[in-house]
Order: sequence, then structure tokens, then C-alpha cells
Amino acid sequence: MMLLFNEARISWSTFEPNLNKNGKVIDLFPQPAAFLTSALKKVTFSSKKLVPFFLSVKGENLEYVVGLVKEGKLRTVIDSKHPLSKGEDGWAKSINGHATGKIIVEPWHQFLGIMASLAGKLMQALQFDSYGGGASALKHVEVPVPTPKKNEILVKMEALALNPVDWKIQKGMLRPLFPRKFPYIPGTDVAGEVVEVGQGVNKFKAGDKVLTFLGQANGGGLAEFVVAGENLTVARPPEVSAAEAAGLLVAGLTAHQALTQSAGIKLDGTGEQKNILITAASGGVGQYAVQLAKLGNTHVTATCGARNIELVKSLGADEILDYKTPEGAALKSPSGRKYDAVIHCATGISWSTFEPNLSKNGKVIDITPGPAALLTFALKKVTFSSKQLVPLLMSAKSENMEYLLNLVKEGKLKTVIDSKHPLSKAEDAWAKSIDGHATGKIIVEP
Ligand SMILES: NC(=O)c1ccc[n+]([C@@H]2O[C@H](COP(=O)([O-])OP(=O)(O)OC[C@H]3O[C@@H](n4cnc5c(N)ncnc54)[C@H](OP(=O)(O)O)[C@@H]3O)[C@@H](O)[C@H]2O)c1
Repeated sequence: MMLLFNEARISWSTFEPNLNKNGKVIDLFPQPAAFLTSALKKVTFSSKKLVPFFLSVKGENLEYVVGLVKEGKLRTVIDSKHPLSKGEDGWAKSINGHATGKIIVEPWHQFLGIMASLAGKLMQALQFDSYGGGASALKHVEVPVPTPKKNEILVKMEALALNPVDWKIQKGMLRPLFPRKFPYIPGTDVAGEVVEVGQGVNKFKAGDKVLTFLGQANGGGLAEFVVAGENLTVARPPEVSAAEAAGLLVAGLTAHQALTQSAGIKLDGTGEQKNILITAASGGVGQYAVQLAKLGNTHVTATCGARNIELVKSLGADEILDYKTPEGAALKSPSGRKYDAVIHCATGISWSTFEPNLSKNGKVIDITPGPAALLTFALKKVTFSSKQLVPLLMSAKSENMEYLLNLVKEGKLKTVIDSKHPLSKAEDAWAKSIDGHATGKIIVEP
């Protein structure tokens, strides 16, 4: 019989009658009396023995027990978990001697290794130092891994989705909206893993998979690590890949906002039927707009190039116009419908082209409004026109990020991915976005 002895106050005389002929007591907490007994049993060649035990950690044994846990053959009974800020409670509980299983202090204990290795480390990133220059002006640099401040988290980038706004900032097209300080690391749509949390962060801990919107004013996405605000970060379900999730930010949120807020479509399918036109339905925003619109009570007409007609049909569009044909350029619905709302994701189409295709109270929701569109917007407003042009600027909300992630998790929404590029070749992704012919989202991965 072998006994594992883990309690200080049981004497040899209590064990002895319970041992079989060659029974051993392995004493995990040997006291002087136990050493005496051990020596005595040795010198008298007793068949029953007391063996004092001292732990000697071996890497291979650690691997073995981790393997057992992984296979479900061994589990850790957890007595209690304590935040590092209340580590003294865990300490007192251990001294108390009545823990049932292990006492755990969170959040740092599992990730001390990663943290130690990041302190003062450099990371790969891409930045530009002035306006203009396109893909060739993106410089590969090594910069310090940023440190999260209050209410911020440090995230290891697993996927970044590019948007036209990223290179429009570089071109200086949004100077009044986002005045830049150089150097600037572009990119805002990031999915990754939390590696460190700043003071005051309660929602996340190291190891959490997240989706985070960095905002154009900060950028920082084209890098191995990014610092993100807790408020525009949400948990990413394991069913949704990093690339699928990253695509949802600027593009998905814009499509969602245009349909629900500007066009008044209810995505639970209630509400009266509306005819919707979606231009550039094969692009980052358009592909989500088609899928989301079809969750509502809508008839969707979509425009795209000939090569993407089958794809856009598969996303749910009811009828498709090839924008390079005369009918496509005129935006005329093949079934003769007038549009209650246009989610305008292309550029360069004038009000006079839209106007005859709109229903009485039809709206054009313009996500790239230029000066002419802003003039039309003002004109339609002051003349109380029933047909309106509505400029849209996406405003990120965490509840909408969660909503879209959940749709992907449930298989009701997907991210069409144009291409994936390693960070070491992110300039190719940048050039692809500037080219303006992406089908779905362009993704950069570490
Ligand atoms: N207001 C906001 O907050 C906001 C938010 C997000 C995006 N945006 C803006 O919205 C625009 C679209 O963004 P995105 O990410 O969807 O762009 P994108 O992914 O780069 O769009 C590319 C797609 O558009 C198609 N396309 C181009 N011109 C077209 C036309 N005249 N008719 C039909 N399809 C056309 C292209 O098809 P082909 O390859 O066949 O030509 C391509 O598949 C950009 O200007 C962007 O800056 C604004």
C-alpha cells in the first residue's frame, strides 16, 4: 500500500497498522519526527518505509502532465481565482490551509513569459513620413512595441483589413478630418490576441482573442503589435477567423450603418419591403451591404463588374447590373423597380443618374461624398425635396461590432476575402487597394 501524505500531523503509529507488508508512506511535508522515522526504518531494514519527498521540477514531466490535461486525463481543481491587485487574498487563503485544489492569481501568471520577452523589444511595422508617394512610400521600420496606457490594451496583430481610407489619408485627401503627425503607421481594422492590459482595463485579459478598431486618428495597425482602446474592442468568438473578423470593421460597420440608420432597414426581416440598389457590390463595403440587406425585407439590385456577377448573386442579390454596360451605367433596375434607398459604394455617379431611378421618397446614401454630392445634399434639404442625398461617415460602435461578429459566427454573414499578404509585403496589399479592383477585403497578416 502506498499513501501520499500531505498533512503534517499524522504520526507513523497511525499509518503503520494501515500499511501492507511492503507499504510506503510518501511524506510531502516531512517534519523532524518523519526524518527520524525514515532513518529508523532504514537502519532496522523495516519492510514498511517512510519516504520524505522533495519536488524536483523536470521539463519532460511538465510536458507529460500538460499532455494529460490536454487529453482530458488530468484536470486542475481550482479552489479560487484572485486578481493580481488582490494577490494577498490568495496568499492568506493558502496560509489558511483549507484550499480545495489550486489557488490562482490572475491575470498575469500565465503570460509572464510573453510579457518579459516584450519589455523593451522592437517590432516590425510599416509607416509613411509625409503625404503622397503611394505603396513605394511605405517604409518597413523597427519601432518599440507600444505600451498600453490607462484603459488601453496591447494586441498581437493576427489580421489587419485595409480600407481605401488608409491610402486616402496618405494622399492627404482627409487632411481637414484627420490632420496627421508623421511618421504615421496606417491601418485601423485589427483582429488579434491581447498580450497586455493597461490600468483600469476590466473587460479583457492577456490571451483573449479580440477585434478592435483603432480609429483613423491613431492608426497603428500595420505592425506586429497595436495599442487599442478598451471601448472599441470586443471579444472574437473562436468560430470567426482573424481575417473574417478584421474585414467587418470599417467595411461591415459602414454597410450596417447605411442600411439600418440611414435607410431604415430592419435586419430582423420585419418592416415593409424596400427596393435597394447597392453600387460596387463586389467591394469591401458592398459585399457586406448585399448580405445584410437580404437579412431585411428587401429586393436588392446590385452593380458590379462582369467577373463578379456570380459572386454577388451568391451573396443574395436579386438582380445584377454590369456597371460597364449602358443599362448598368444608367442604374436601371432590370425588373423596372424604383429604389427606396441606394447604398452608394462606388464613386463618380451623378445625382442626375440616380434621380430618375428613385422612388418618390428615395434616398441616395453616399459613403464617398465629394463636393458635388455635398452641394446636392444641401440643395435637397433646403428645397424640402422628397428625394434626398444623405452623406454618411461611419461611426464605430462596439455593440454593432458584436452584432456583426455574431452574424458571422451564426453563418448568416461572411467576409469575402480578395487576398492575403504578409506584413513583410504589405506594400503589395496597399497597391492592390489603391488599384480599386478588390473583390471583398484585402488582408495583411503577420
Ligand atoms: N463614409 C465612410 O465612413 C466610408 C466607409 C467605408 C468606405 N468608404 C468609401 O467607400 C468607397 C468603397 O469602399 P470599399 O472598401 O468598398 O472599396 P473597394 O473594396 O476598394 O471597392 C472595390 C470594388 O468596387 C468596384 N467598383 C469600382 N467602381 C465601380 C462602379 N462604378 N460600379 C460598380 N462597381 C465598382 C470594383 O469592381 P471592379 O474591379 O469590377 O471594377 C471593386 O470590386 C471608398 O471610396 C471608401 O473610401 C467610406
